[in-house]
Amino acid sequence: MTAEPLLQLTGVDVRYGGVHAVHGLDLAVAPGETAVLIGANGAGKSSVLHTIIGTVRAAAGRVLYRGEDISRYSTNHRARHGIRLSPEGRRVFATLSVEDNVLSGCHGSRRDGRKETVDWLFSTFPLLAQRRRQPAGTLSGGQQQIVAIARALAAAPDLLLLDEPFLGLSPIAIRDTSAAIRQVQQRGTAILLSEQMARPALKLADRGYVLRTGTLRRSGTVAEIRDLALAEDYL
Ligand SMILES: Nc1ncnc2c1ncn2[C@@H]1O[C@H](COP(=O)(O)OP(=O)(O)OP(=O)(O)O)[C@@H](O)[C@H]1O
Ligand SMILES: [Mg+2]
Repeated sequence: MTAEPLLQLTGVDVRYGGVHAVHGLDLAVAPGETAVLIGANGAGKSSVLHTIIGTVRAAAGRVLYRGEDISRYSTNHRARHGIRLSPEGRRVFATLSVEDNVLSGCHGSRRDGRKETVDWLFSTFPLLAQRRRQPAGTLSGGQQQIVAIARALAAAPDLLLLDEPFLGLSPIAIRDTSAAIRQVQQRGTAILLSEQMARPALKLADRGYVLRTGTLRRSGTVAEIRDLALAEDYL
């Protein structure tokens, strides 16, 4: 990596009681780049993302953001400093409208620039404007994924964590979600995306990490990790 990393994990361990979920992970994301974290069920992908957002504490190692150790900071503090997670299973607020779901993402964000960000979201993702008043729970899975991503973007994060955005989606919905992610990339937001589905994830990425049962098997450019990442898809 040439640029100074925006996010850097060194030697991160995650433990849940007797379960050692992540072993000594080293990972970095540069400003504006998209990195993918590929792994099968139980590989530790969500554990890594939750360690970055602060809902899980690392048992060992360091989480640096803009060069500062944020390991002791609360999730709220990390969110205010520009880290947002779109969690696995696209948990939208089912009974709230699409608009209210998106606006809920502004919570805890810097007040200046809020309107500009929300305007950008509604003009960039036409679905949001078309379905503004519809309860989000009545949207299709792919549409809900776009609402979930938009909600995470409402705070204009510098680092967006996406936990398995393609899970359970049809090929068409994967394509639409990928297009939404490309818009985020064009805005200059750095992304760390976890996926089991290596093929569509690799198309979006600059670099990647392949995780197997909590251990990093390979990291590098998409070309360097492609074969191993695709093999993980079938495990
Ligand atoms: N709260 C928890 N308590 C105990 N074990 C946990 C907990 N959360 C995760 N684990 C274990 O940690 C390991 C990694 O889980 P994690 O959810 O991070 O994997 P994942 O790669 O996100 O999997 P998936 O693709 O199924 O979402 C698994 O063995 C899991 O059972
Ligand atoms: Mg997971």
